[in-house]
Amino acid sequence: MSDVLTPAAPDASALVADRLLTVAVVGATGAVGLELIGCLERRGFPVGSLKLLASERSAGKTCRFKGRDVVVETLARDSFIGVDVALFATDAAISQVFAPIAAAEGALVVDNSSAFRMHWDIALVVPEVNGALLASRPRIVANPNCVAAIAVTALQPLHARFGMTRLIGSTYQAASGAGAEAMAELRDSTAAYLAGEAFEPKVLPHPYAFNVFSHNTTIDPATGYNGEETKVMDEVRKIMSLPDLRVSVTCVRVPVLRAHSMALTVEFDQPVSVAEAEALLAAAPGVRVVNDAKANHFPMPNEASGADDVLVGRIRQDLSDPTGRTLSLFIAGDQLLKGAALNAVQIAEALAG
Ligand SMILES: NC(=O)c1ccc[n+]([C@@H]2O[C@H](COP(=O)([O-])OP(=O)(O)OC[C@H]3O[C@@H](n4cnc5c(N)ncnc54)[C@H](OP(=O)(O)O)[C@@H]3O)[C@@H](O)[C@H]2O)c1
Repeated sequence: MSDVLTPAAPDASALVADRLLTVAVVGATGAVGLELIGCLERRGFPVGSLKLLASERSAGKTCRFKGRDVVVETLARDSFIGVDVALFATDAAISQVFAPIAAAEGALVVDNSSAFRMHWDIALVVPEVNGALLASRPRIVANPNCVAAIAVTALQPLHARFGMTRLIGSTYQAASGAGAEAMAELRDSTAAYLAGEAFEPKVLPHPYAFNVFSHNTTIDPATGYNGEETKVMDEVRKIMSLPDLRVSVTCVRVPVLRAHSMALTVEFDQPVSVAEAEALLAAAPGVRVVNDAKANHFPMPNEASGADDVLVGRIRQDLSDPTGRTLSLFIAGDQLLKGAALNAVQIAEALAG
């Protein structure tokens, strides 16, 4: 690891929370930042002092925390003096610069961006899967891509029992995954469409109302996969410690405001039983089985929105595999929560608790 990522810092065990902590939320005004503030409050994180940081555009705005208004400050190099825990919800370029500064000041850092996720010496953590990595109290912990975090929460209990060997998936990704401005664009473009008015997309590359399009990240000409798909595949392998996992995903945006869905086909190294898979999922932390075939009631993004649990259903044998080793699933999860803010706060709880 480079020096910038291993700053000399006070012993993190000093942070064991028998005292209230000074917590910074960086990118506090964004889609993930606002959820971080909500999760800190809802989960009773031991916040003594809350520092909200964003660009200079937001300086002076306020956000509610525990019934009071906290003023947003402009992010600066000296923002982290005295900060115990820094939760980053900014673009990778900003995290790249400021997360090491926060760590050097002694803060435990959880970063939502992609800046450090695939760094060989940085833990990429979903507590239900590889939370043991937090025992060493690393200075900077990466929070995964939202699709990866939601998928592995559901896959881990099945992998632990049956041994996952191959994963094929398609996603149905909501506007919130692209941030607060994309959510506004979906609302505004839908209103314009219904009013019969022209709408020029500014945040996303294609009309979003009543449309579906391939994820708006750059296609790698060498592989044909876009950036989101590559992140999901790389990060699932890393989080689940399956570097050789055969995995292929197709990532698509759908005009849903919040919560991602995905259809996964999962091959295991031994035959699977649907009943056992359902029982394992029902007992798994962070998972709620929604699998009512009679009522045709399965995971939906409107029911996943605002929920901490990842919803899993449509659990069935993949009939295209005559060996009986393959399951198909449908999943919906709130990617602002388990796919971002909730997972980050769970990591912070493990680090600081
Ligand atoms: N959305 C998701 O579902 C999701 C899931 C997992 C991970 N992530 C990752 O989380 C990060 C934040 O995503 P988001 O969706 O919350 O984005 P967002 O809604 O666009 O929010 C971005 C935040 O960054 C702040 N910011 C922008 N430029 C800044 C600067 N120069 N200095 C300081 N702050 C600055 C913004 O502040 P202003 O309001 O002042 O501009 C805002 O608070 C990204 O890295 C994203 O990839 C997002």
